[in-house]
Amino acid sequence: MAHGEGRISNKQHNARSKIGIQHSEFPAVSFQPLISVSRCRRDGGTFVAHDGRELAVFLLGDPPRVEVIDNRCPHAGGNLSGGEVENGIVTCSWHHWAFELSTGVCTHSERAFVRRYPAEIRDDLVWADLPAKKPLPTSFPGEGI
Ligand code: FES
Repeated sequence: MAHGEGRISNKQHNARSKIGIQHSEFPAVSFQPLISVSRCRRDGGTFVAHDGRELAVFLLGDPPRVEVIDNRCPHAGGNLSGGEVENGIVTCSWHHWAFELSTGVCTHSERAFVRRYPAEIRDDLVWADLPAKKPLPTSFPGEGI
């Protein structure tokens, strides 16, 4: 099994299925180095611009683990790397939508989510598996979240 396969959660799978997208349509391209662990804020988010993407890297716990999501909040574009993090949930500072970092799913509604990328620490670098396809939609049109 390639890196990142099988790491999609049931919540993500269900959310993607609702809009007709199957996990297999998002093949892993490759893990890419994003940032040195030493440059990441501990137990919080760090903004990373990489290859045309705006990402939020979260370095959590001890021993540290990482989560990588799109930086833009799907509600109105807030900066998720600057959000408060508690118990594996980041809360957007603009209007307080909250997202589970392990799934990307909004805690208020499974119909909204932020894109999450499989990630890991290797040799003091944060690596993430960034697919080549365009990002998923982050809400379901017309459902008025
Ligand atoms: S922009 Fe994030 S909650 Fe509104």
